[in-house]
Amino acid sequence: MADRIGTLVIFGASGDLAQRLLLPGLGQLLSSSRGYDLRLIGVGSDPMTDAAWQSRVAASFAAGGSASRRSTTVAKNSVYLQADVTNPADLTRILAAATGTPALYFALPPHVTILSIAALEKVDLPTGTVLGLEKPFGTDLRSAQALNRNLLKLVPEKQIHRVDHFLGKSTVLNLLGLRFANRIFEPVWSAEHIERVDIVFDEKLGLEGRAGYYDKAGALVDMIQSHLLLVMALVAMEPPSSLDADDLRGSMAQVLRATRSWAGELVEGDRRARYTGGTIDGRRLPAYVKEAGVNPELDTETLAEVTVGIENWRWAGVPFRLRSGKAISDKRQEIVVTFKEVPHRPYGFTGNPGPTRLTISLTPDSIELDLNINGEGDPFTIDRVSLDVQFGNGELGPYGEVLHGILSDDPTLSVRADVVEECWRIVTPILAAWRAGDAPIDSYRAGSRGPTSWR
Ligand code: BG6
Repeated sequence: MADRIGTLVIFGASGDLAQRLLLPGLGQLLSSSRGYDLRLIGVGSDPMTDAAWQSRVAASFAAGGSASRRSTTVAKNSVYLQADVTNPADLTRILAAATGTPALYFALPPHVTILSIAALEKVDLPTGTVLGLEKPFGTDLRSAQALNRNLLKLVPEKQIHRVDHFLGKSTVLNLLGLRFANRIFEPVWSAEHIERVDIVFDEKLGLEGRAGYYDKAGALVDMIQSHLLLVMALVAMEPPSSLDADDLRGSMAQVLRATRSWAGELVEGDRRARYTGGTIDGRRLPAYVKEAGVNPELDTETLAEVTVGIENWRWAGVPFRLRSGKAISDKRQEIVVTFKEVPHRPYGFTGNPGPTRLTISLTPDSIELDLNINGEGDPFTIDRVSLDVQFGNGELGPYGEVLHGILSDDPTLSVRADVVEECWRIVTPILAAWRAGDAPIDSYRAGSRGPTSWR
């Protein structure tokens, strides 16, 4: 593929995201078979010498497991600019330092990104400039709509990459192969055969010093509004005719448009909780409200669980439960598809270990199909067996994949404007109720599995 981007400019270069995720992903990409030649510019509000930045870049590349002549050269030639990215004069200076077509990557909190995009309107952008924006995209539906409008004043939609690294996770991408390259799943992939779908992403990590961002977001915005709704869209969408950007993103948009907060019975309502102090894997975590930078009055949740329904012929009546929590001992990160019971079990069988269940695990990458079968010993007793397969890592990690899309001008894994707005629309009523304090906030001990009352 022809290299189109000459310079990758990372805004927020001295931040945690750039160091821990973005740069390691870039290093992998540079060292992979899909490698690029490009210039890297780091931009941050803190002072830093070029030499200090170059060694940071090299350390992050090494942390991502990449060492190649190309990645070493990119690190060595990289420069760091201290600048205010909300200031048009500074933005002009940054663009002047770029060679070839620039890609500007906003690894910044959403409110700073919004200001920076507004400032870019006063700057002459080189033709073909590509913009990469980290999630969350805006801070609510209205700000996301305004940001989309402002972005379109700068560049056309195909040059805007709203990044969600979950779309770069290999198991998430495997969903496409599993669903659409096998004959056996698609015929039973509907309300006729599926009882419920659970998409869970619980983490052992706590706040990890991210109060500045997380305290205003919370688990609903940080994980469900973006990552988990997009994963759900891939699980539930209609088969696209191709995997190109228009078809894939069109199918995702269509199913999200049909998605609403669940209004049926059979499931718990939407609920939220926050962790108190505790220990996880021998590591002591203070209560969330005692973490530096947290404002207890914001009532931010660290665990959110919401149920949505998809109002179309395929899915009517099937609850999709989305849950994500921090500081949870049991690190479940999976999509669980629970099938309905068989319409009739022949008389004479004993035992009923439960319905057929397909678990697509995001960490570790694996797929497990739980089936009922005549077990060992008494052939008339039904037992459970699991068929499971674990995958090795893809050539690129999630950030390597999404950066590949940005640098090769392929928006397939980028979140389209209408998709991001749909995701905000779906969570808006829940968010409004929670921000107004209309729903209680439960608590759970860090290192537990969540509130005891939820089990
Ligand atoms: C990020 C969230 O987008 O995804 C974090 O902001 C979360 O809070 C992270 O920890 C989880 O993704 P991964 O791929 O690092 O497990």
